[in-house]
Amino acid sequence: MQRKILVTSALPYANGSIHLGHMVEYIQTDIWVRFQKMRGNEVHYVCADDAHGTPIMLRAQNEGITPEQLIADVSKEHQADFAEFNISFDNFHSTHSPENEALASQVYLANKAAGHITTRTISQAYDPEKEMFLPDRFIRGECPKCGADDQYGDNCEACGATYDSTELKNPVSAVSGATPITKDSEHHFFKLGDFEQDLQAWTQGGHLQDEVSHKLAEWFESGLKDWDISRDAPYFGFEIPDAPGKFFYVWLDAPIGYLASFKNYCDRSGVDFDEFMNADSETEMVHFIGKDIIYFHALFWPAMLQGAGFRLPNSIFAHGFLTVDGKKMSKSRGTFIKARTYLDHLNPEYLRYYFAAKLGSGIDDIDLNLEDFQSRINSDLVGKVVNIASRCAGFIKKRFDGKLADSLSEPALFNEFTEQSDAIAQRFENREFGQGMRDIMALADKANQYIDEMKPWALAKEEGKGQQVHDICTMGINLFRVLIAYLKPVLPQTAIQAEQFLNIDAMQWSDITTPLLSHDINKFKPLMTRIESDKIAAILEDSKQTIVAEKPVAEKKGTTATNNSSIEPISDEISFEDFAKIDLRVANIVNAEHVEGADKLLKLTLDIGLGEKQVFAGIKSAYQPEVLIGKQTVMVANLAPRKMRFGLSEGMVLAAGPGGKDLFILNPDNGAQAGMKVK
Ligand code: 2FM
Ligand code: ZN
Repeated sequence: MQRKILVTSALPYANGSIHLGHMVEYIQTDIWVRFQKMRGNEVHYVCADDAHGTPIMLRAQNEGITPEQLIADVSKEHQADFAEFNISFDNFHSTHSPENEALASQVYLANKAAGHITTRTISQAYDPEKEMFLPDRFIRGECPKCGADDQYGDNCEACGATYDSTELKNPVSAVSGATPITKDSEHHFFKLGDFEQDLQAWTQGGHLQDEVSHKLAEWFESGLKDWDISRDAPYFGFEIPDAPGKFFYVWLDAPIGYLASFKNYCDRSGVDFDEFMNADSETEMVHFIGKDIIYFHALFWPAMLQGAGFRLPNSIFAHGFLTVDGKKMSKSRGTFIKARTYLDHLNPEYLRYYFAAKLGSGIDDIDLNLEDFQSRINSDLVGKVVNIASRCAGFIKKRFDGKLADSLSEPALFNEFTEQSDAIAQRFENREFGQGMRDIMALADKANQYIDEMKPWALAKEEGKGQQVHDICTMGINLFRVLIAYLKPVLPQTAIQAEQFLNIDAMQWSDITTPLLSHDINKFKPLMTRIESDKIAAILEDSKQTIVAEKPVAEKKGTTATNNSSIEPISDEISFEDFAKIDLRVANIVNAEHVEGADKLLKLTLDIGLGEKQVFAGIKSAYQPEVLIGKQTVMVANLAPRKMRFGLSEGMVLAAGPGGKDLFILNPDNGAQAGMKVK
């Protein structure tokens, strides 16, 4: 029976570029969608930019443009990237759209009428200069637990502590540099607890992966709290219908954006929105998301939908994060790779295949190991799959006028390939793509083995062996066709080229079992070339260059707010007496080493002639420890020792620069004597 499925990928924020971490999700979803379409199901795959919120508003201000202009520009960039990666959205919309405003109001008002919305006054950090409430990520200060400087308003990257922004010591607004004050305001809350029983049942009802259901069971134990769904002006979003000056929090209207994109598409295409969204709908709704946003999708979202009388999702499929060469993507290593940078150098099909080969149905992180990536593409796709066609096509074209033989000489071998079609379909259905790719490559090995053993190139030189050559190459082309059909959800562009070569219509899954016989094929053109190492080196190099030009203002959880200026505002004035208290000394760097478990720190042993001091310095992005040993620097020698997670820090070295790779510790001229005072 034909299924009707509405599929979504998470909506990317409209304030930053798409990077390869994002692409894991869009590629995963796209493979699943293309597979479902090949099976003959009715699938609608929609997405949108997530356009609201404080970071987008501030970035537009920094750039001197309206948020509308910013999101229009970013939308173009995102859509171009997705299109080149062959992500087959049926619609790509925006959460800043009339459809979303109408649906967000509808969902809110229905929940309110049912008694699921409440209001109360809360106190929050407020920037008196900028006259706005500050989200935690826009407040910086000293960690209340370990004293580390320049930490976010909700957690410390040095010691891992989490806290309330009001606990931060010496807080400053990252927007203006002002000291935040605390101010009251009335907020609207969604009473998540009203849905506790239904959510308990739903989250254990087979809609989530097992490990996600287990995690959610823990969250229920700690109780479901009311969810703050309003924000005060100024805010880029939708004003709450019955609350002037209050706006829906971006996360309220973001998932509703799935429905808004679908509505926009239905209005244009004639698909019946209500058939999909009615509470008793027999259609399916499936969301692909990253594991960091499970709470929003598995609790708030089904509760909001239920409160508004809509259907609930059938499945929420979460995936893990992407690491590159085993580590978090890093701007300084050049492994924070934008989609565009990748596309500038390599065929998107390579990455689609590599991610497919790595993806399973769980939420484990996946690693893009660049060496493995290169060798796997070269050996699997170029060396195995494409090679089958290139070994057989020439003979068919030259010796048999491009026509395949009229029967299969080895029907058993062909059946071995096609009888796996249900099992491989099951792998796709269950998102076990990695296992699916291994199954397909095992078949590709078999096809190559067959050709190796049959040696058509040798037979072609012998008298009277023409029929055998025809038979073998017809077999080879047919085996190739089955493999390409299996790989078609993963390699859509290669499949189109292969279909042109084979001179056939777009393949459906049901076509797999029917061999191609007495059929004219076209001239073979190489479908793919090997990845050369210089391409990967170029991607890394370009990634370093593009990132250095950007200075993050605040960065967190999938959000990158960027600022064109790399100049920090000047801090409050200090008196000369204050300055004179700082004892700057020339220090010999006696030792420098990595600190296990610290992303940014190096441990320095400094000699200022009065004994050694140990200092933890956040300069790992710019320096290899070895190059520092034996050099001199300038340190604040009389800073009170601070206990950090990794040990005691007894001073501070002076550094300048925008950050990342461009961070320079200050060096005195050669020959300064350790301990010398710096005037
Ligand atoms: O985490 C993020 O990047 C969000 N923009 C995802 C939103 S998904 C959906 F809820 F809209
Ligand atoms: Zn801390």
